[in-house]
Amino acid sequence: MSKATISAPQYLLDQAKRRLVPTVNTIPGMGLIENRLLTVDWKQRPLAEPPPGSGLKPVMGDSGLPILGHIIEMFREGPGFPLHLYDTRGPVFFADSPILPSIVAIGPDATQAIFSNRNKDYSQKGWHPVIGPFFGRGLMMLDFDEHMYHRRIMQEAFTCSRLTGYVAHIDRVATAGVADWPTNDARFLFHPAMKKLTLDIASVVFMGHDPGADHDLVTTVNQAFTTTTRAGGAIIRTSVPPFKWWQGLQARKVLEDYFTERVKERRNAKGTDMLTVLCHTEDDDGNSFTDEDIVNHMIFLMMAAHDTSTSTTTTMAYNLAANPEWQDRCRDESDRLGDGPLDIESLKKLESLDLAMDESLRLVTPLPFNMRQTVRDTDLLGYHVPKGTNVVTWPGTNHWMPELWTDPMKFDPERFAEPRAEHKKHRYAFAPFGGGAHKCIGMVFGRLEVKTVVHRLLRRYRLELPRPGYRPRWDYGGMPIPMDGMPIVLRPL
Ligand code: HEM
Repeated sequence: MSKATISAPQYLLDQAKRRLVPTVNTIPGMGLIENRLLTVDWKQRPLAEPPPGSGLKPVMGDSGLPILGHIIEMFREGPGFPLHLYDTRGPVFFADSPILPSIVAIGPDATQAIFSNRNKDYSQKGWHPVIGPFFGRGLMMLDFDEHMYHRRIMQEAFTCSRLTGYVAHIDRVATAGVADWPTNDARFLFHPAMKKLTLDIASVVFMGHDPGADHDLVTTVNQAFTTTTRAGGAIIRTSVPPFKWWQGLQARKVLEDYFTERVKERRNAKGTDMLTVLCHTEDDDGNSFTDEDIVNHMIFLMMAAHDTSTSTTTTMAYNLAANPEWQDRCRDESDRLGDGPLDIESLKKLESLDLAMDESLRLVTPLPFNMRQTVRDTDLLGYHVPKGTNVVTWPGTNHWMPELWTDPMKFDPERFAEPRAEHKKHRYAFAPFGGGAHKCIGMVFGRLEVKTVVHRLLRRYRLELPRPGYRPRWDYGGMPIPMDGMPIVLRPL
């Protein structure tokens, strides 16, 4: 067990101030603890000695607190904690947490090495201990040839003509969904309302339910889905009733039974929802999914689409409320489109909304880290990483680096526009949708969904902060969510 010396060298204090002050979450008491932890000079040890003569460096790191490891800093600071370690230790290191022993690879070069995966050194098995029991055999969990086989078939569900069908559904549900949100109410919580809306959208777009129909069934499936998704963030990571992990496994079973029945029904039906589309898609060689494949893919797709879109839309609502000049600029474009039905072409015209979306994805990256596992001894930027090591790369941390971004904690969407185009400083400076073979297959879908919802909101309401200077605190235990649900006041236009 490593020993902590609670006397922080000045450079660590300086780094902590420089990097973390703008992002530190300030719950009374908590801030003190994590600031204290951030300045501890933990005794370092090598993960493993590199092979003699290899010229590689060992990955250094520490175990942090007994039992807890570095979980407090990780949960409280999200991408800020790896950024602090990058400053003080370099791009590749380990900082153990009891949930998942892993090494951390920071900076755009490390992210590029892992995402581009030139020698096929990194497998998706790194995700398995995190979400494997609940989302096993989803596309992101598959590797190499098998992954490519499935991705080619699934790609057919994301062609332009398919997306056109989805946008029509999304627009219909979003328009009706935001219409009756409470106005002039400082107690209205944006995040849960958005979570419900994206689930309603998913229910229609992914599962083909008619809005309002079969209410009990939809509720049961939605609840099972929410429970399954939450289980990945469980602290007790074993199946003991009544804890989250166990609940997640029960809920997964409900989803499997539900989708198995639905697949039988949709095989011979027509429809533009994703479930029906997956029942019919084939790649160029005529390969198609088995019933079991579709069940596994649907459960994963629902998860992949849901919390990410909710998180992005929530962050955008906050940023637009906090920056009225950007809200006006985006609304001007929305007003030019008006209230007619949306399609892919019309959404393209919302260019300021694209900038605001990218800036929101940069500041609060919905999937701030990506997990991998080495399939062999690997050279990562000159560090020796043994076979079977879990490796986490953090695009969310790269998104906050002053080396890449001017005044990184400032909401400044113009940084994505020419001539500044700060995201082009490095190929992997900006990677909220990942990269390489596993780059988000739903990226265009997700962008269309988020823009549709925000457009509909902007046409109806002015978004205001609940009080001047309000800033949400983010919980980084899973995907970032505002701890207080994020109150936003909607003023009717
Ligand atoms: C703003 C919204 C979204 C964000 C930020 C996002 C982010 C990501 C990221 C970072 C990955 C890569 C994970 C890795 O490499 O380990 C990923 C993969 C994936 N995403 Fe998304 N996603 C979003 C929306 C969606 C939507 C709407 C769908 C489906 C309709 C979707 C489906 C998937 C799938 C299936 C994968 C796995 C791809 C593969 O392994 O080949 N995502 N997403």
